[in-house]
Amino acid sequence: MINGRTQLFGIIGSPVEHSLSPAMHNAAFAALGMNGVYIPMRVIDLQDGLRGLRALGFIGVSVTVPHKVAVMAFLDAIDPVAQKIGAVNTLYFQEQPDDTPLCKGYNTDWLGSNQALAEEIDPQGRTVLIIGAGGAARAVGFGLLEAGARVLLTNRTETKGRELADELNCTFVPTADLPMVQADALINTTSVGMAPLDDALPIRAELLGNFSVVMDIVYAPLTTKLLQAAAAHGCRTIDGLKMLQYQGAAQFKLWTGADVPGAVLRNALLAELNRR
Ligand code: ATR
Repeated sequence: MINGRTQLFGIIGSPVEHSLSPAMHNAAFAALGMNGVYIPMRVIDLQDGLRGLRALGFIGVSVTVPHKVAVMAFLDAIDPVAQKIGAVNTLYFQEQPDDTPLCKGYNTDWLGSNQALAEEIDPQGRTVLIIGAGGAARAVGFGLLEAGARVLLTNRTETKGRELADELNCTFVPTADLPMVQADALINTTSVGMAPLDDALPIRAELLGNFSVVMDIVYAPLTTKLLQAAAAHGCRTIDGLKMLQYQGAAQFKLWTGADVPGAVLRNALLAELNRR
């Protein structure tokens, strides 16, 4: 029931209609009996958009493509971890005594990927191979290093891969050397395997036996070709909804202080995916 006391949350991006986050956060409000609403907002002018959110009394906002880096220029404060990653996926408008809220930026993507991986393996002291060198690879790589993992990184475009590996201070592995890699876990951070190109694999299937755990960040389809092939090679698998779920749980906790049962978020995400 939306009324005069409803607290406002949402997601800014462009486009945003594909986002599963509204389903997840609104399910959390309903399950916990909290008077909040989370809405998708397509924001074209970021600076004006942020002014609007602040003026309208929003409490928390998720940030998605293409605003995760650009948004940092307009914030009052940035969490040191988000600063290091160089991307913000969460805004929190904190009330001040003079009524002008302070807008602080955080990053929960790295927490999401670490917690997803932790369902199968503790990253501390383990070797993990990341495929990809985009924004997702950055957050995942940073998270793994924070958790004390030894990180290897490979990417189709070698220059881009080496650049990120240098920045993270981890080891770059050229595609030709992948058959030599043995690692505890493999994480795909590329869009390879996402519908409608869901017949593609980000790594040769015969190499999957070299990993104990395989995690994908692609969640449509939920069981990607990579995860199918990994299971066939005896790997334990983690689907792409897990990272989304855990990064969302961390946002919800930051904004409201409340812990949402994982099943509430997972079921909301699955229901929304199935509805599409
Ligand atoms: P995001 O910010 O979501 O991570 P991105 O910055 O566009 O997205 O990065 C996409 C990543 O997926 C890149 O590592 C990209 O590889 P390139 O650097 O070679 O472009 C990788 N990627 C996308 N499509 C791919 C494909 N068909 N095969 C292999 N890698 C692919």
